[in-house]
Amino acid sequence: MAIYLPRRNFIRVLWILAFAFLARLLFFSSTPAPEEAPQIRRQGVLDYVAGSDKVLDVQKHDFLQVRMGRDERPDFMSDIVQDGVEDYWSRYEQPYITGKQTSHMDQQNVLNAIDQLLTLNGWVAALCPTLSRPFGQNDNAYEELARSGHLYFIGMAIHSADHFLTDQLAVIVQMARRLGPQSVFVSMLDYDSSDSTETLLDLCEAVLTLLGVPFRIRRIPGMTEDPTAAYYPLEEAHMRNLVLEPLYEFYRNRKIKFHRVIWLKGFTCPNDILETIMVSESNDAAMVCGMDWAEHNGFFIFSDRWRTRDIQGDQFRQSKSSSRPEAGPPRDKVGAERYGRHLPFQVFCCESGTHVVDPMQSYYQGISYRHGSGFTNLSTADSAPRRDSDSPCLDSSQAHFCRDLWINAAREGVREVESLRSSPGIGVRAAQPVVQKKDLEKRAEEGHAQRQRPAVKDADANVGSDFDAMPDSDGEPEPADTYSGSLSIPNSVFRPARILVNPRCVTTYAGVSHVQLALDLFGPEDDDAEPGSLKTKYILDDWEGAPDSFVCQEQKSTGGRKATKTQRRLGFSIHSELNH
Ligand SMILES: *[C@@H]1O[C@H](CO)[C@@H](O)[C@H](O)[C@H]1NC(C)=O
Repeated sequence: MAIYLPRRNFIRVLWILAFAFLARLLFFSSTPAPEEAPQIRRQGVLDYVAGSDKVLDVQKHDFLQVRMGRDERPDFMSDIVQDGVEDYWSRYEQPYITGKQTSHMDQQNVLNAIDQLLTLNGWVAALCPTLSRPFGQNDNAYEELARSGHLYFIGMAIHSADHFLTDQLAVIVQMARRLGPQSVFVSMLDYDSSDSTETLLDLCEAVLTLLGVPFRIRRIPGMTEDPTAAYYPLEEAHMRNLVLEPLYEFYRNRKIKFHRVIWLKGFTCPNDILETIMVSESNDAAMVCGMDWAEHNGFFIFSDRWRTRDIQGDQFRQSKSSSRPEAGPPRDKVGAERYGRHLPFQVFCCESGTHVVDPMQSYYQGISYRHGSGFTNLSTADSAPRRDSDSPCLDSSQAHFCRDLWINAAREGVREVESLRSSPGIGVRAAQPVVQKKDLEKRAEEGHAQRQRPAVKDADANVGSDFDAMPDSDGEPEPADTYSGSLSIPNSVFRPARILVNPRCVTTYAGVSHVQLALDLFGPEDDDAEPGSLKTKYILDDWEGAPDSFVCQEQKSTGGRKATKTQRRLGFSIHSELNH
């Protein structure tokens, strides 16, 4: 008997300690200071004790559904609206919600509302299932995605784009329905919109709250008072990094990793996005983009020419959707050939509307969005200083991001080889070209010979405005100089970044006749055109190294989104970037 006594006391003491600990957690750490309230909170012991298998449980954590920077300034109707809302609430809603007899009905109403919201299809999105797609579109193929239990981060930067926001919300709802509402996190950034974006974001907030989808919706003021005094690549980088803020907070504070980041731009059908995620997974790709088509005098043209470069570093053509594949957007031979077969093809850089990024190969490795320094502020300087022909490119923040992906992939390759060399007995991974220092000299000579590409004969090559950011009346920028440098160590010896374009993922804007566009691009449905399963079609077997030069299309000065762009061909040496 006597031996049990101390043990019981010991357990009692443990209980008291545990209670004290829990109480402290409850009353202190779980009530955050007001200024840190919107942050993704650090994982506490309580989270483990409460033990939910859902990581993004909005019922449990209020920081998972946050609205920041809402414009709450009163306007001349606010009083009347406020009175009306309060009257309706206190006379018609509250008594039933709080009443014992009627509360179950109210619950049923909410459940019905959620069911209805889940069928929200928007105006354009409603047509998606009927659109022509090569190899058809099979819903069941994506059940695998839902079952894998991964988390997806949906990012949007909105700058006065109310005309398709409702449809984008419909796309998000459709994705949440298939992947599970608590497998996605939605981050929307309203950058100083002056249209009805703000009101539509109220709608987004209400819908996502009801559906239990975690989100952060945030509005920020413009970086400059006068939009024409802004430097667009700087704004781009700023917006993108703010959209990603919750991603970094999850990673830092709760060790929660997202499987893919989906940047929603323009309008893309939900199935096409899911397919692009599959393409991204099958290829272990750092980034997979759709293709962006804009309406132009009654037909559709490829539109994101500012940020897209084929695997030889050339600008895409401003092709019509009805062009033959050889005259399609990508200029390089392999890309054009795969484009013609509607298969994913490798590029040096892309953005093209909706795109999917693997954070493990980018954001979690410390890559964020940036812009070139040394641009001229026209508000304070009369003319731009002369820049050397080999000075760094002042192009879009996405172009910087792409180059960072290439350099990061190469660096990882080098690191892997070096760590393998220091642990004998393990064979070097043969699948990818990875730099081997002793081979560099030899391969440099080979690379040198390969690099002598024939001069571009295409009259349209690398000239033309960027439709995305400049009206076509702005005239043609200067043609790019022919690049005549040579690299001592060619880029082809380094592990390539896996950046792809999925031509079946079409991004458009409101007002576009999707039915015609789909027919232009893909023709009537022909399931047997390409043998092999969908999965094998997704996969690219041969990966090229980075081009030794690329078309740099830059904004050298302020002037907002539409500032003049000039272009030149610029060398790109991974070797020298790595030694930087
Ligand atoms: C350019 O200069 C003006 C005036 O000093 C300033 O308000 C604006 O923010 C500057 N623009 C950028 C992009 O730095």
